Amino acid sequence: MKKILILNGAGKKNGTTAAMINAFKAGTEGHEVTEFYLQTMNIHGCLDCGGCRRKEKGSVEPCVQKDDMSHIYAAAREADVIVFASPVYFWDITGTLKTAVDRLYAPLMNHSIGAPKETVLLMTSGGSTIDHMLDWYRNFGNWLKWKDLGTAMNDVEAARQIGSRIQ
Ligand SMILES: Cc1cc2nc3c(=O)[nH]c(=O)nc-3n(C[C@H](O)[C@H](O)[C@H](O)COP(=O)(O)O)c2cc1C
Repeated sequence: MKKILILNGAGKKNGTTAAMINAFKAGTEGHEVTEFYLQTMNIHGCLDCGGCRRKEKGSVEPCVQKDDMSHIYAAAREADVIVFASPVYFWDITGTLKTAVDRLYAPLMNHSIGAPKETVLLMTSGGSTIDHMLDWYRNFGNWLKWKDLGTAMNDVEAARQIGSRIQ
């Protein structure tokens, strides 16, 4: 049984991104899934203050800012798999998702996210290119040496299959 963390960066609660997430979840039977709908959470941008690098290594409160990221930090510490889910907003992931990802800098810098993660990217769009999203996802994963389990775009069956392949 794996622990799967989904970061949902969609604006709409029940739009096409939610449909992709639901299909992915349907494939993940037997695993423990935690989803955060970031749009309704209080998450501030990274300050690049360096506070996280001065905190004790492995601190469970890696960031100097106190907001809803504390819930995500706790889940990210435990997670085996992190799913990034986002519609394309102007050829890129949404600002909502990017803000939360930027705040992962803190636990990454002070090593409170330990073991390498596996990752998934679920995307929806109105039909434009997605090069920026894929660049972001691959650069981030390569930098961390995390393992890509798959990407799906506007394809609920592909999302379900990625979920069902998780072992
Ligand atoms: C601010 C904004 C920017 C968007 N930019 C793009 C874009 O660059 N390319 C594209 O194909 N669709 C774009 N879209 C359309 C959304 O990606 C598309 O409608 C998506 O399916 C919405 O997902 P949702 O139903 O989960 O909200 C944009 C939508 C919004 C609101």
